[in-house]
Amino acid sequence: MLSQAVVNIAYLLAAVLFILDLKWMAHPRTAVRGNHAGMLGMGIAVLATVLGEEFAAGGFSAMPVIIGVVIGAAIGAVSAMRVQMTKMPEMVGIFNGFGGIASVLVAAAAIAAATTAWTHGWAGGTQEKIAIVASALIGSVTFFGSYVAFGKLAEFLAVKWKLYPWQRAVKLGFNVVIIASALAYAFLRGDFDVWKIVIIVSTLVMAWILMAKKDTFPGLNQIKLVSALASLALAILVALNPGEESMFFALVAVAGVLGVGLTFSIGGADMPVVIALLNSYSGLAAAATGFVMNNNVLIISGSLVGASGIILTNIMCKAMNRSLVNVIFAQMGPTADTPDADEVYKSVKSTSADEIAMMLEMAQKVCIIPGYGMAVAQAQHAVRDLAGLLESKFGAEVEYAVHPVAGRMPGHMNVLLAEANVPYEELKEMDESNATMDSVDVAIVVGANDVVNPVARTDPTSPIAGMPIIDVDKARTVIVIKRSLSPGFAGIPNPLFALDNSLMFFNDAKKAFTDIIAAVKEV
Ligand code: TAP
Repeated sequence: MLSQAVVNIAYLLAAVLFILDLKWMAHPRTAVRGNHAGMLGMGIAVLATVLGEEFAAGGFSAMPVIIGVVIGAAIGAVSAMRVQMTKMPEMVGIFNGFGGIASVLVAAAAIAAATTAWTHGWAGGTQEKIAIVASALIGSVTFFGSYVAFGKLAEFLAVKWKLYPWQRAVKLGFNVVIIASALAYAFLRGDFDVWKIVIIVSTLVMAWILMAKKDTFPGLNQIKLVSALASLALAILVALNPGEESMFFALVAVAGVLGVGLTFSIGGADMPVVIALLNSYSGLAAAATGFVMNNNVLIISGSLVGASGIILTNIMCKAMNRSLVNVIFAQMGPTADTPDADEVYKSVKSTSADEIAMMLEMAQKVCIIPGYGMAVAQAQHAVRDLAGLLESKFGAEVEYAVHPVAGRMPGHMNVLLAEANVPYEELKEMDESNATMDSVDVAIVVGANDVVNPVARTDPTSPIAGMPIIDVDKARTVIVIKRSLSPGFAGIPNPLFALDNSLMFFNDAKKAFTDIIAAVKEV
């Protein structure tokens, strides 16, 4: 058994490893090392807790912890190995939710203990009372918000089309579980009181919102406002009177309505920002849980997650030149001032794989600009193959210009290109590539649209006005590979496609690169 002093030293070591983890995760070259440091830190923290004298003195057994670790590790490992890159935000979304519900459960356990002790005159410390309330409130918003984020990304929430059987099962199953839990709690545990009515009404409201087929509908804003105010009021009441268990669950239920309401109205493609925000909330909830349990390492790790999540949210908002309020309350899309696509695309020219191969033969410097379409087509390997061929056959210099919000999650392009073994030194950040864009002979835009749209620089009324973009229009020749002239995430036309130095190659990105490789080999 370890003394409390040794446990504290182990916690300190774990905290240092978590900080190194974050530092190393900031660069692709050291990210794997960072992951290992985080895993080691968490292993040390769990072991020190289980082997510590406080754990034994509390009468706890190690077995439930071991079972929990084995089940959790198995789920985490299998999901991480099997998840497709394009489904990563969904997975992170649902895992944030687990963090949130864990905090709610710990707070509920603390409340159960408080309820028993209350009847025997438990007064509890102010810190503990506030921590319990914060854990429940933030944990519940995180859990229900994360479920919505997952459901919107997995396209079974807020959509009009017909669902697959598994989607329908999850959508209806979730509602049945929350309503059944509320009814079971209300009628099977203790006397029926006003808080139990609040619990039932809240779960019904949540279930009703979750069945809606559109992001926004009349009354949703009012529900958000009422649930936010009611959550705050209930949080104060619970902190003043932790002995009333049904009031605590009323707080969890009303905060759930707030989590659902806030996340439901956010556009599907803004979900990565919301997921980073929910990630930050799950960290705050964990830190609050650390105060409930008086566990230093949980307070430190929760604070680190909370802080890094909010920094990531801020980086994404800045890269889109949007405020967090705009992401949460406004939908991205064309406005009345957005020009008509037919007008913008009057002088679009298309090209072929053979023509592109001839241009590439003459090019000394080629810049590849990847976007969401490369991820959809899983074209990264073909892209890397073409780059290698241009270097070996024509001696061309090839680099990749990566926009911070290209794709649909932070680092999306970096991860895909790393998976295809593209050397890190060929990846250029936006500012670096823009500085030399006028020396590029051929810029190949693969499945990117908004991140290369020059209206961000030229049209202050555009929804992407002010968003920093990759200035591909300054390259000598631009080849844009996408399947059609349909818009990107922002829903607006892109005049780049109609510029004199632009040529469109309408094709699926992977097929396009395979065809260009074949044509280059023929040259
Ligand atoms: P988008 O502007 O969304 O454009 C992607 C383009 O890919 C589409 O125009 C589409 O055109 C094309 N495409 C789709 N499937 C394809 C395929 N199989 N083969 C070839 N092309 C295909 O993408 P982007 O330029 O990467 O910009 C990202 C956008 O997402 C930005 O507006 C950004 O603000 C937003 N966003 C990003 C993030 C993060 S963290 N990355 C978070 C929130 C929002 P076709 O249909 O004609 O092929």
